Amino acid sequence: MVDESPSVGRYQVPSDILVSGWENKKHGFKEESRTSAAITLSTGETKLVLYFQPFSLAISVKGVAALQINSRNLLNFEHRRHKQADDPAGYWEESWMGHTDSKPKGPEAISLDLVFPGFQHVYGIPERATSLSLRSTNGAAPYGEPYRLYNLDVFEYLDDHPFGLYGSIPVMLAHKKGLTVGVFWLNAAEMFVDVVKTRSEVGTQWIAESGIVDLFVFTGGSAPAVLSSYARVAGTTALPQLFSLGYHQCRWNYKDEADVKMVDSGFDTHEIPYDVLWLDIEHTNGKRYLTWDSSLFPRPVEMQEDLASRGRQMVTIVDPHVKRDSSYYIFSEAETAGHFVKNKHGSDFDGWCWPGSSSYLDVTSPAVRDWWAQQFTLDKYKGSTKHLYIWNDMNEPSVFNGPEITMQKDNLHYGNVEHRDNHNLFGIYYHMGTAEGLKLRGSRVDLENGDRPFVLSRAFFSGTQRVGPIWTGDNAAQWSHLKVSVPMLLTLGLTGLPYSGADVGGFFGNPDAELMTRWYQVGIYYPFFRGHAHLETQRREPWLFGEDTTARIRTAIRGRYTLLPYIYTLFRFANTSGLPILRPLWYEFPDNEDVFAVEEEFMVGSAMLVKPIVAPGVSSVDVTLPAGARWYDALSGAVLPARTRSQRVQVTLDAIPVYYRGGSIVPLRERPRRSSVAQAADPYTLVVALDDKGEASGSLYVDDGRSFAFQQGRYLHRDFTFKSLKLTSTVRLESGVPNGTLTVPTTIERVVFLGLPSLKRGYKALIGGKHAVQLETGPLTMLAPHHENAVVLRKPGLPVTYDWQVEIVAL
Ligand code: NOJ
Repeated sequence: MVDESPSVGRYQVPSDILVSGWENKKHGFKEESRTSAAITLSTGETKLVLYFQPFSLAISVKGVAALQINSRNLLNFEHRRHKQADDPAGYWEESWMGHTDSKPKGPEAISLDLVFPGFQHVYGIPERATSLSLRSTNGAAPYGEPYRLYNLDVFEYLDDHPFGLYGSIPVMLAHKKGLTVGVFWLNAAEMFVDVVKTRSEVGTQWIAESGIVDLFVFTGGSAPAVLSSYARVAGTTALPQLFSLGYHQCRWNYKDEADVKMVDSGFDTHEIPYDVLWLDIEHTNGKRYLTWDSSLFPRPVEMQEDLASRGRQMVTIVDPHVKRDSSYYIFSEAETAGHFVKNKHGSDFDGWCWPGSSSYLDVTSPAVRDWWAQQFTLDKYKGSTKHLYIWNDMNEPSVFNGPEITMQKDNLHYGNVEHRDNHNLFGIYYHMGTAEGLKLRGSRVDLENGDRPFVLSRAFFSGTQRVGPIWTGDNAAQWSHLKVSVPMLLTLGLTGLPYSGADVGGFFGNPDAELMTRWYQVGIYYPFFRGHAHLETQRREPWLFGEDTTARIRTAIRGRYTLLPYIYTLFRFANTSGLPILRPLWYEFPDNEDVFAVEEEFMVGSAMLVKPIVAPGVSSVDVTLPAGARWYDALSGAVLPARTRSQRVQVTLDAIPVYYRGGSIVPLRERPRRSSVAQAADPYTLVVALDDKGEASGSLYVDDGRSFAFQQGRYLHRDFTFKSLKLTSTVRLESGVPNGTLTVPTTIERVVFLGLPSLKRGYKALIGGKHAVQLETGPLTMLAPHHENAVVLRKPGLPVTYDWQVEIVAL
């Protein structure tokens, strides 16, 4: 539905927010029947009944009711009108806390109702610190107001609250036994979504302040199918550089070069791996981004090269507000070129942010983004090196003296578009421009084989996954914030943006040793894993909480590095098919109604289940291990029974409960190293966790971890299967991506079997049909050497690159 006549000039989200070409892949609908009241159409397993009066659509999949559009007749829009003397107050101007919004086009709101019949659970519409399965909005405060989608810099946000935060993705999934459906309303204005649950359905009403109804419905049937369809429109996760999946150490602020050196060497002294050290706003010359405070950072190039000599990278912060200072080259160039957002009178908008009086690059303009991208080449960004990556903060945009700490809605952008229309796109466009800058830099450094960009953003929209990761902003050092980080990240994964994380330790406040320990133990599973802290907090590098805590955090972070092959492989699937990294239990067990609202546990891919501990003093916890699978404790290797109800397990401060799901093969790298780069030549371990039939499967994806060469097939993707006591490695072929051609000179040094029946005389392995090696009973991991629940094949010397078969034979 696009417009009315006479035209009010309704805003449409530009096509570069979506991937190009998706609209050429249309499937036609077949007309099944027609009456004077309705037409019935079908495509594949989806059936659609279109009622003429009042207009409504009823969609079903395989005969199961999936979605009703406008069944409540709430599709409504404010039509174009001329000013009348008796118009209600607020039609043509609104005032709020000293701010006046001139509304030159008058009211433009548009709404519609979407009802999910037979469903009890809906998920999505981030970002907010709330439950995974969205609650009704007609409850007690604060759940008595609709969910809002309006990117804002929210100071000290509360957990368990429906309030909208820094980013917006207008995507909702509904799930019931046998069916998942998804909807995506592409609209970038302020939006509200009401959710009302009854016993028989979830009813939702959506209202946007302006724009059009541009609704996508995904009827794939399962969550992976819905997410792949959404990804065909909004894109998949850009494959990150491998280093960026390691641990990031951040703080507002690492003060100077000596501080950087001290923190960096602290990791080595305490034998804790990490990959990236971050500098916040204080590193700049008076919050002029892309400059350095030369008294604190006199030798930024040498500093970065020193880190790089140990395989480490640096990130600096670059915010979208530009200090209004004519001696600052970014400001003067942008001002001269007319690159700033305008106020309603057409002059450069002037708002307040960290540097004081600031203007904001109008990144909604492709030309401004091009110019912005050019600022990141090594000759332009003085003091930068190819080891430096970028953090975009405050890009909601945050304006300290603006309404709700953002820009006036009647500010003007490229094409004379009002800010009210494209507010939620400011963040992604800024993020895009910066990422393009790093791509450009990469191609200048190495024309053939430039680096993939790494740019972290705070604000986001549909499509941000194609650009880079986000984090959940300014959380607090409280147990409840650790807890809510899980549903927040799960929701992002379900709305196509899996590369995300929460500040480990909590941004505001001072975590004690126990909170710090538990946060790292969960944080190692965040797709983006960074410790960060507010300027006024106590220092909290991992070794500052006493020896026992240092040891526990070391174990946790090393665990992240052990898992990198598995995590990187999951990212490859996110990259090819839009699949999430962290997954709610229902995603993996879609028929198990008991887990539809579970957010106290999560899956990492399909092979691991993690139970965070989110309270102090815990010595035992209830764990739900869904039926239909076999589960192995990831430390001891012991089998746990799957039960419909939860079971109590004992825990210590040393670890949180984590399980391998039977039927999985998980690739690991077990040698402790100082960074991901230092692991590059290390051999792999395969954990083969058998299901009830004695079978398992999994895969391993490898490439240079750095460049775009994988897009030309310079990668290796192997499938592993265990069946009838034979473990085989075969090449993985996927339609739509070039076949892999990379040779990797590494081997598999250990294969660990969980769930092989214990035999008195044990087993031997026949490698390639001849060479026999005796298997040993032993521990799953050296972290729990006393538990001898695994059967281990040591030093089989299996090449990662080629096909092979290992047969397990009883002695
Ligand atoms: C707000 C960001 O959310 C936070 O992470 C950062 O440290 C401060 N801005 C200062 O740049």
